[in-house]
Amino acid sequence: MISDEEREALARLYLASRRNARSAYLAAQMAYLAASPLADSCEPRTMWEPAKVRFVLDMVLRTESVPGNILELGVFQGGGTFLMARMLKAISSGRVIVGVDSFEGMPEPVDQDADDSGVARFHEGMFREGSSYQYTSLLARVLHLEDRVRFIKGYFADVLPSLAREGRRYSLAIVDPDQYAGTMQALETFYDLMSPGGVVIVDDYGCASSMGVQRAVDEFLAGRPERLEVGALSMVWFRKL
Ligand SMILES: C[S@@+](CC[C@H](N)C(=O)[O-])C[C@H]1O[C@@H](n2cnc3c(N)ncnc32)[C@H](O)[C@@H]1O
Repeated sequence: MISDEEREALARLYLASRRNARSAYLAAQMAYLAASPLADSCEPRTMWEPAKVRFVLDMVLRTESVPGNILELGVFQGGGTFLMARMLKAISSGRVIVGVDSFEGMPEPVDQDADDSGVARFHEGMFREGSSYQYTSLLARVLHLEDRVRFIKGYFADVLPSLAREGRRYSLAIVDPDQYAGTMQALETFYDLMSPGGVVIVDDYGCASSMGVQRAVDEFLAGRPERLEVGALSMVWFRKL
């Protein structure tokens, strides 16, 4: 376990290393280390593998100079949210994370979620088990991160339009609902609110268990100027032009 001072020193080193354009891998390692005490304690609460955690934390730091807050669409138990929030604290960032989830699991899949054998592997209610708005909000207070995170409970179709009407800009959006409709709603709602230079990460692209994600991303980006890049494992991303 490293101390708060050591973690902050690592975060400063990280920022210096990025300014000097040193190895992105080393920088990502430092970003991960800077949040590692929480990574250890939160491991069961994020579904992201360590490579994805490192990639997301690196993107949190790389978008620090882009105007706007951070969005996480599909938070489950909030482990990824808290890791990002801890990182924001370590670098004294002014950004906050808005995390949206039904906290009731997934809605019904649609036709586009079917795999090659015609079956949608993620059914309605998946992820309901172990998901709780009250518990995750309480955890934010226990971890002293309540000033860094704002959780919104509801299905995307119901809550994203009013969130978008707030008119706030975003520097980083992580889209992680694992289904076609949720992915498309997220991209369509927030594309225009992403600051130029902001980053959109989508998880589970190309996974056999969530074919709808790739279909939504490919349809959405067709005819738009942004180029999709591979991030870590099944995480892909693009930079808003
Ligand atoms: C793969 S989990 C998210 C994992 C999380 N990002 C992490 O770091 O562990 C997917 C989450 O998306 C939520 N979800 C999926 N579709 C949704 C929708 N249309 N509206 C609201 N929440 C949704 C589910 O409830 C579930 O908690």
